[in-house]
Amino acid sequence: MLVHVSVSWWQSTERLAGNGYPAIMEPTVEHVDDVTARAGALFMETMLASVRERGRFATALSGGSTPLPLYRHLASRPDLPWDHAHVYLGDERFVPDTHEDSNFRAIRRALLEHVPIPPDHVHPWPIEEDPAASAEAYRTVLDETLGGEPFDLTLLGLGTDGHTAGIFPGTDGIRASAATTWSDPTGVEHRRLSLTPRRLSESRTVAFLVSGDDKRAALDRLLAADGDRDRTPARAITALERLLVITDIA
Ligand code: 6PG
Repeated sequence: MLVHVSVSWWQSTERLAGNGYPAIMEPTVEHVDDVTARAGALFMETMLASVRERGRFATALSGGSTPLPLYRHLASRPDLPWDHAHVYLGDERFVPDTHEDSNFRAIRRALLEHVPIPPDHVHPWPIEEDPAASAEAYRTVLDETLGGEPFDLTLLGLGTDGHTAGIFPGTDGIRASAATTWSDPTGVEHRRLSLTPRRLSESRTVAFLVSGDDKRAALDRLLAADGDRDRTPARAITALERLLVITDIA
């Protein structure tokens, strides 16, 4: 009798360390003068390869300010295969998409308004009556539009406190087995919606974009041989194929 055992890649690739955390994957660190230029080349290379090989390119974009020059640069390339692209957000602030702090508002203005991506290929976080409902709604969006498929490219930033996406030190999203979570981190202006490290890592290529000397201490903690993922949640991120850190910090 054929028993079909389907396990998520998460179990199947032995990525879990004993404590249920994803096993640390050695990132490839690229020291560059221009993070935007390198990230742009990576985005386009990954997009073209994904469309060529699978007919689709699914990407989870980072919020924050570091990637905005990249998004503006990509806006000058309407010739790329945007009609085969699906854009998700790795995290969002729990604010309307008209709010000045909305990641989707920033990404829409910098990129999405300028390229011919079909509207139903753009997947912002639904802002529901409460953050838990938004996190649940985004799980449905992911299930309905991606199924169990990984992203082709996940872009991430790094906070000076070692957070990434909306996963902050001392919050329990680090361990969450679900695809999405939410938190109300201390000292952070808005409640945060986020893909979990597990779901962010279900991506063929994951690239941290880290720019500015104020990130040096957090980068050192991210790259240290050992360290505490609760203190530096970015350490909980892995990837299916390539885990990159693109940085202008020497
Ligand atoms: C957000 C981001 C967040 C960001 C880091 C770095 O919603 O702000 O997802 O994780 O990537 O805070 O932000 P900067 O790029 O602005 O330094």
